[in-house]
Amino acid sequence: MARTAGRHRCIDCGSTTARWAGRCPTCGEWNTLVEEAALGPLARAVDELDLGGMPVPLASVDLTDAAAVPTGIVEFDRVMCGGIVPGSVTLLGGEPGIGKSTLLLQVLAARAGAGHRVLLVSAEESAHQVRLRAERLGPVPPGLLILSATDVGAVIDAVVQAAPDLVVVDSIQAVAVGPATPGERRAAGVPGSVAQVRECADQLVGMAKSHQVATVLVGHVTKDGSLAGPRALEHMVDTVLSFEGDRHHALRLLLAVKHRFGPTGELGLFEMGDHGLNRVDDPGRLLLGDRLVGVAGGVVLPALQGRRTLLVELQALVAPMAQAQPKRSVVGLDGGRLVMTLAVLGRHAGLPVTGVDVFASVAGGIRVAEPAADLAVALAVASAATGVPLPADLAAVGEVGLAGEVRQVTHLPRRLEEAERLGFGRVVVPASSPAGPPGVELLRVDSVADAVRRLGCTAHGA
Ligand code: TYD
Ligand code: MG
Repeated sequence: MARTAGRHRCIDCGSTTARWAGRCPTCGEWNTLVEEAALGPLARAVDELDLGGMPVPLASVDLTDAAAVPTGIVEFDRVMCGGIVPGSVTLLGGEPGIGKSTLLLQVLAARAGAGHRVLLVSAEESAHQVRLRAERLGPVPPGLLILSATDVGAVIDAVVQAAPDLVVVDSIQAVAVGPATPGERRAAGVPGSVAQVRECADQLVGMAKSHQVATVLVGHVTKDGSLAGPRALEHMVDTVLSFEGDRHHALRLLLAVKHRFGPTGELGLFEMGDHGLNRVDDPGRLLLGDRLVGVAGGVVLPALQGRRTLLVELQALVAPMAQAQPKRSVVGLDGGRLVMTLAVLGRHAGLPVTGVDVFASVAGGIRVAEPAADLAVALAVASAATGVPLPADLAAVGEVGLAGEVRQVTHLPRRLEEAERLGFGRVVVPASSPAGPPGVELLRVDSVADAVRRLGCTAHGA
């Protein structure tokens, strides 16, 4: 290390001194003073950090830059609280095949159609494949640019050159940071590794902020949502969107998990059709359209998805044991809560469901994880086990405790309003519930045993 008489800078705290010393007079660290001339680029980088920036009144901060720009895809804009903020970074997560590329191509085409220049960076599909998909969705506007590339450096160069308003990178797992110098890799691992995904996202976030380009990153997430890549990015981006649904069903749900520019509760509903995603105004048609009434084992639940209520059909089937062990199987529900509900039915409602297989599902590819579904699950199983159908105009909502009690749920008024709107005249609710809308008769129950008895599902046992 140079021990000369010129100006020296501490590489730890950034302060400068006139002469070299063994210990920085400002921060007290040892052996951190380096002659400025020798520091060169690092010293300049520290200066660029503008460590001397002064605080300003919060009220004087300009808000015009943070105004959301509508994309024209109504359900997308609803979830984004108006549209996309310039310079913001959004992560769109979802299972492979759910429709992320389709949704974003529609967003890009809508923006380009309104006269903006937008760029799709396709790292997974060739430009040819993307063109074919775009043709399926409608006319391809001239302002929609495509770059088929996987190297983040090339992506950033292209963005700087083309200066689009909006960039989509599809997907963050398919891009990679190239070797810094031949034989050396800046970020370890193959594309898709956590280190690569983070490094790429970091560079793209930097690009979005420094060039004021709104950027959307696509991230594939596995069914349990546990894929390390996208989850590791949530703190780096402004907005995290989740695109959900079942590949075998048409309905798709778009939810904001995190949003720095507004509240997160909005739900966007789409239907996947032959020409891309269409908005859904009436989810009841998709979710309850094929419901069989007068059959044991079905009940309707007013479920909350974000801030919106969706009426979904819960179904249960109780069948003789097919193997040595009884089977419990769920689709769209929490398996652990089903097992607990079965134990409560047996212990507190006199309906033992041991020695049989139990299946429970939510129709339409919707996932319901909230405890408010417990009572409906219990009633569906009780109805299936006894063969007593529940009334066609009946819905049920309530959380079930281990003592068999039925507990209050969040946002009951909102759920009851939607039940009334769709013609459900009776709703089984926790005993502590306030009065509901005029068109709905509330069946207040204090326990699962009470609910099962009042609906006559106690007849023969399993
Ligand atoms: P895609 O957007 O490629 O999913 P992701 O990017 O999340 O992996 O969509 C995949 C599915 O959507 C595919 O199975 C085909 C279907 N699809 C339609 O049903 N209609 C359409 O108009 C399009 C473009 C796709
Ligand atoms: Mg895709």
